Amino acid sequence: MSGAPAWAGTLGRRGANALLPTYARYPIELVSGRGCRLQDAQGRDYLDLVAGIAVTALGHGHPAMVEAIRQAADGLLHVSNLYWTEPMVRLAERLTEAAAMERAFFCNSGAEAVEAALKLARKSLPGRRRVLCFERSFHGRTLGALSTTAQPQYQESFLPLLSDVHVLPFGDFDAAQRAIDPQVGLVLVEPIQGEGGVRPAPPGWLGLLRERCDAAGCLLIFDEVQSGLGRTGTFFAYQAEGVLPDAVTCAKALAGGLPMGALLARGTAAEAFQPGDHASTFGGGPLVSAAAHAVLDVVLAEGFLDEVRRKSERLRTGLQKLAAVNPVVAGVRGRGLMLGLRLTEPRAAELVGALRDHGALTCPAGADVVRFVPPLTISPEEIDQALQIVELALGVLTQRAEAD
Ligand SMILES: Cc1ncc(COP(=O)(O)O)c(C=O)c1O
Repeated sequence: MSGAPAWAGTLGRRGANALLPTYARYPIELVSGRGCRLQDAQGRDYLDLVAGIAVTALGHGHPAMVEAIRQAADGLLHVSNLYWTEPMVRLAERLTEAAAMERAFFCNSGAEAVEAALKLARKSLPGRRRVLCFERSFHGRTLGALSTTAQPQYQESFLPLLSDVHVLPFGDFDAAQRAIDPQVGLVLVEPIQGEGGVRPAPPGWLGLLRERCDAAGCLLIFDEVQSGLGRTGTFFAYQAEGVLPDAVTCAKALAGGLPMGALLARGTAAEAFQPGDHASTFGGGPLVSAAAHAVLDVVLAEGFLDEVRRKSERLRTGLQKLAAVNPVVAGVRGRGLMLGLRLTEPRAAELVGALRDHGALTCPAGADVVRFVPPLTISPEEIDQALQIVELALGVLTQRAEAD
């Protein structure tokens, strides 16, 4: 029996006893939500600026999502991938068209999409097992995905991991130029690192990776589990750069809060898997596919991504103004509604706490960055409210810093 957390609430005590302690959960029990607002069991109201970590892109209780899930629940819940189902096939068609890919594989999470990508690379280029990934990357917690998650604190207890995985500095042109050679089978990269601190790749770098991968004849796969599906103001982040990968992973926002992941592939990568090479019992089931269609109906609707970009500007400009007058802030980075407030010291957890105390939910991305990944449906008024709360919370940190 593990001990109760500092938060001595009944649910926290029961949770600490009943669950493997893989998370340090915040002392809140959330019970309901609508749009960008969440309520806890004590009746406190929060502005949701984290969206279940970039998952609930349409917010909570979106009428179209609720209706799609309700209707799907009344139909077939599951039949397995032994048979065709129309929602899955149509979803593959819509996603591949929007992503300029050719074929899809469906699974249930981001890590599984990355596992599929790793296997796809092995199957595409047998004998070329070298994988290149990047410092502070995050690709998931299963053993294959963890092997490419270049954050030692997550890997240390689980060694040995996959061999022949090499870690390069993120955004370094020379290192990529030197390392991508004919021994490499796969270059796996997040166009905008999420967990690693909301760090966009520098302009031109993804293009260089593309060139080098073409020259070396290896696969370039983008992990857009966090940045994909409209989060950065384009459907996928790579579309803003005009660089097409051989495959892309997505998950998180795909089914708006239901568990779903996908690997989308094109060219030779779309030809590599044969029946029996890979599988997922639940992947692409009718219920999650129906939810994903509801997400795509909104995100791909005319003008929606323009709106996301406009909202991004409002949030970014507001955060930048606060950064300019608050000595604890070093700057703002990211794209679309995937923004990070970088602090001058490793006080992200403290700022997340202060924001929560003032009624806004966020989460850290590393020790010195607070991440803003609200529902894409957040309103301009809610953004302004968020900025007011950030101002108050930064004031708390500044006061503490001055008092020390
Ligand atoms: C870029 C990226 N890849 C993969 C994952 C793993 O996704 P999941 O937690 O759904 O397995 C994450 C999760 O944060 C992520 O941000």
